Amino acid sequence: MKYNFDKVIDRKGTNSSKWEPAILKQMFNGEDVLPFWVADMDFKVAPPIIDALKKRVEHGIYGYSTRPDSYYEAIINWTKRRFGWEIKKDWILYAPGIVPAINYLIQTFCVPGEKVLIQQPVYYPFANAIENNGCHVANNPLVFNGEDYEIDFEDFEEKVKAPKVTAFILCSPHNPVSRVWTKEELEKIGEICLENDVLVIADEIHNDLVYSGFTHTMFASMNEEFAQNSITCTAPSKTFNLAGLQTSNIIIPNRKLRLKFESNLERNSIGLQNPLSIVAIEAAYNEGEEWLEQLLVYLAANVKFIDNYLQENLPHARLIKPQGTYLGWLDLRKYETNADILEGTVAKEGKVGLDGGSWFGPGGAGFMRLNYACPRKLLEEGLVRLCKAVRGIKQI
Ligand SMILES: Cc1ncc(COP(=O)(O)O)c(C=O)c1O
Repeated sequence: MKYNFDKVIDRKGTNSSKWEPAILKQMFNGEDVLPFWVADMDFKVAPPIIDALKKRVEHGIYGYSTRPDSYYEAIINWTKRRFGWEIKKDWILYAPGIVPAINYLIQTFCVPGEKVLIQQPVYYPFANAIENNGCHVANNPLVFNGEDYEIDFEDFEEKVKAPKVTAFILCSPHNPVSRVWTKEELEKIGEICLENDVLVIADEIHNDLVYSGFTHTMFASMNEEFAQNSITCTAPSKTFNLAGLQTSNIIIPNRKLRLKFESNLERNSIGLQNPLSIVAIEAAYNEGEEWLEQLLVYLAANVKFIDNYLQENLPHARLIKPQGTYLGWLDLRKYETNADILEGTVAKEGKVGLDGGSWFGPGGAGFMRLNYACPRKLLEEGLVRLCKAVRGIKQI
């Protein structure tokens, strides 16, 4: 079956966080802003997911629900088929999202006053989770080499060895710089953390969204020692556009760590799951693969479209070549390096809503993040608005 990703679907009036005028006003100071920020997609989900939901909705009773074996098998089979990692049912814990899970993980494994290492610019809820739970951010800044981003391993080791650093949050693939880390890079990370008894929290929410020529390696799949010193977070939410169904898989092979985390989840009464999400997620993992493959082709074509459009209309801007995710990291520093001016002008003059680079921490100023998981027609309209606004800041 051929899926139509070109179809523009009106999301207004569906309580979409990305599109809701009141939220756009709050975030970008305008209700008529065209949104390319929150990381969900403007595409309809795969038909088997809709069928499973319809069937469940038509039953008419939505009481407290339990996860059947078939639900776990769907996650286990997907992880094995796509990444070659064999996981066990017992290892998989449920959390309503990876961001909530990261908060619970910090509460479980870190003591207030300790430090958690991240690699900025990075998905900003990491820093929020660390600070909201009384810990401090330690940063191993990613290094831009003119082409893409690299890890400064000397600095990484120094930061891991620093007093009070208990955990490292690995963003793999990385949001927003869209790197897919190589096996060699992950191996170095794993060895350094292992030697220094620093727990690796591997947020692999974007692991299915990887472009041709790149391969995602699941950190914990590399060897038993890494598996025992890590917690892996995956989800069907980005892959299949199910973020609102609020489900993530927290995979913990290490029994001691698992029991500790489980008891924190229990203490907070986290465990019951929305009955609609149970059937949707099973359908996604079992029957969504063909849709995903076509989605990746469409996203890759969107990347080309952005590249070409920028070359013609904003030649000193550059999209950092995405290796994964559907979040483009735009280098606009030749036009403006002051984040307030750049981000303010794009929102006000362009009436287009992108994540400001500065939101992602040090290293983000002069960049903006463009969510290009949308029909090309919308993308084009967004680029027209963006380029017009940025050209207005500085004519080169
Ligand atoms: C790296 C990363 N982690 C987590 C999330 C959100 O996860 P959840 O909706 O499961 O809380 C996102 C969403 O953009 C993300 O990019």
